[in-house]
Amino acid sequence: MSDRSLVEATLNLPCSVVILSARADNSQGGMTASAMFVSQMPPLIAVSLSKTSRTYEIIEKSGEFAINVIADNQLDLAKKFGGAHGHELDKFKEFDVATEPASKIGGSLLSGCFANIECRVISSVRDLQGNHAVCIGEVLSFKMNEGLRPLVWLKNRYFRVGTECRL
Ligand SMILES: Cc1cc2nc3c(=O)[nH]c(=O)nc-3n(C[C@H](O)[C@H](O)[C@H](O)COP(=O)(O)O)c2cc1C
Repeated sequence: MSDRSLVEATLNLPCSVVILSARADNSQGGMTASAMFVSQMPPLIAVSLSKTSRTYEIIEKSGEFAINVIADNQLDLAKKFGGAHGHELDKFKEFDVATEPASKIGGSLLSGCFANIECRVISSVRDLQGNHAVCIGEVLSFKMNEGLRPLVWLKNRYFRVGTECRL
């Protein structure tokens, strides 16, 4: 089997669409990513970050981050935060992003999201094969807007969450 078809296997996993945000000193960073539930007690969530990303540098420095679970009317933000590197620009200023202060961590939350989850890094695994590190965050605080709907990333495309499936 070719390497390319093996990569395609990963695209068949539906993923959450979030924008991670973090601040260290006077620098803020944000990137489109996916976040995965790890445990309820304690409440833990994992994120996988390219070691070359600016947001990863800031999270490593600050030891905290926010998971902004964007709503389906914020697709433009997913594209903007996933299409530019914070080494080159401050995406929050460049894209005139509406923010509000976080309650338990430094830095800002994105306004108008389906959910905002504030986390403290409790474990960071750098020595994986490949160019990503995995950070596990303990949830310190969260808020959600039940009136909005999140997005899903599947086969390199964005989808709205659809109808509930029941037997
Ligand atoms: C839907 C989507 C999901 C993404 N998920 C991740 C991810 O989980 N981890 C990652 O390192 N990059 C992910 N990316 C790519 C980053 O968002 C992109 O490289 C970004 O420019 C990094 O920005 P930064 O250098 O300012 O941190 C994703 C992009 C998209 C569009």
